[in-house]
Amino acid sequence: MGPDSEAAVSASEVSGSVFPAEPFRIKVIEPLRFPPRLERERLIQEAGYNVFRLHAEDIYLDLLTDSGTSALSDRQMAALMLGNQAYAGSRNYFELERVVKEIFGFKFVLPVHQGRAAENILFSSLVQKGHFIPSNSHFDTTRANLMHNGGQPLDFPGPESRDLQTSSPFKGNMDIPKLKQFLESNYKSVPLVMLTVTNNTGGGQPVSLENIRAVSQLARKHRIPFFFDACRYAENAYFIQQREEGYANKTIPEIARDMFSYADGCTFSAKKDGLVNIGGLICLNDHSLLEKCRELLILMEGFPTYGGMACRDLQVMAVGLKEAQEQSYLESRVSQVQRFGDAVKAQGLPIIEPVGGHAVYVDAKKMLPQIPPEQFPAQVLAVELYREAGVRGVELGTCAFGSVDKNGNTIPHSYELLRLAVPRRVYTDRQLQVVADALGRINERKDSLKGLKLIEGEGPLRHFVASFHPL
Ligand code: F0G
Repeated sequence: MGPDSEAAVSASEVSGSVFPAEPFRIKVIEPLRFPPRLERERLIQEAGYNVFRLHAEDIYLDLLTDSGTSALSDRQMAALMLGNQAYAGSRNYFELERVVKEIFGFKFVLPVHQGRAAENILFSSLVQKGHFIPSNSHFDTTRANLMHNGGQPLDFPGPESRDLQTSSPFKGNMDIPKLKQFLESNYKSVPLVMLTVTNNTGGGQPVSLENIRAVSQLARKHRIPFFFDACRYAENAYFIQQREEGYANKTIPEIARDMFSYADGCTFSAKKDGLVNIGGLICLNDHSLLEKCRELLILMEGFPTYGGMACRDLQVMAVGLKEAQEQSYLESRVSQVQRFGDAVKAQGLPIIEPVGGHAVYVDAKKMLPQIPPEQFPAQVLAVELYREAGVRGVELGTCAFGSVDKNGNTIPHSYELLRLAVPRRVYTDRQLQVVADALGRINERKDSLKGLKLIEGEGPLRHFVASFHPL
């Protein structure tokens, strides 16, 4: 019985519960520091009330991101020793290329050092001033890279995503009637259509295969290339297997191949579902686009057989990509995030439901109605959580996605979310319970919380550098 047929057996078991808990054990540990409250108060003040400006050593549990923060497996550690450090033609590249073609099924593979490099190279090759680029929702770096190349990013999330608390299996879907209508009158100004899986900005919510097919059909009708932003494709494939009719008996590799078969390529940050600390990919089918991207790759990242990375890291990615498709891993991963969401909800906090694949999102707009968007309620909550428990989350609201009009007035984002991203294979349920308990204590005194005034930081990436004053 080969690995695929083994996976087919576990996928077909009801809810796939072959392992009652994590399918791995801890072999190496990193001690954590828990700074005392007075020190935390001082540190967050010195950081301008922006958690990006804290030192990671001053954080107890770091839920800032699930990107590049995974624990490596012993096999990945071993792969580090197989580095064949060559400027050109490293065997690590050919191994990675083989695995990527097997998983994604695209003809050409370019390695890059992370997702945003893939975005910049692809968009520099395709996007011009006056172009529109529709997606279910673009992430911040994707949006910024499109704008940097003169394009206008457009988000068409499906109607089911609007109510944060209604349960619906595929809240990451694109709004098909809206896309259809837009393409009918603007197709000449659309150089590519994108789909982010899972939809990070919208709560880590999955996209169904039915929706993928519909997006692909519309793009093909107008001869527009269709690309995935595929960072969390394996978690998306797991949700398809669990929730979409007709996929319960398919393996994750089968579902992934099905997803990618509808697209012309993808950008990929391997720092998520590649289970690596650094790395990314551009995958393509079109040879003339490959030539353009390859030239920019050499200019900006490096020769196409290393793409801005140490060759050993290509080998680590080849191993991580396969591990991220394992049924038992995905089940333990997604169910841990689910349990964390349940624990936060049990403390009485409003969260995006259903819980997404990589993070729990607290609805700060609902929790803190006394704080208007221009005073950044989700940022207030992020600051408060660090103060309370030394835990770092990230604001995804008006600081990250809002903007400012000509008169300096804030244009708020539709949502004010605190994202608590769960790094892969890193924290225990007990640690995540500590976060939920801390949020519960904050919830008890939520009416006393006050807003923040932005005193520094502008443009679409301002949340990384902004600083604030308490009001
Ligand atoms: N696309 C999506 C959907 C992302 O979530 C990210 C990164 C990127 C592209 C860019 O990839 O970081 O490798 O350059 N998201 C991280 C996060 C940073 O915290 O959600 P990158």
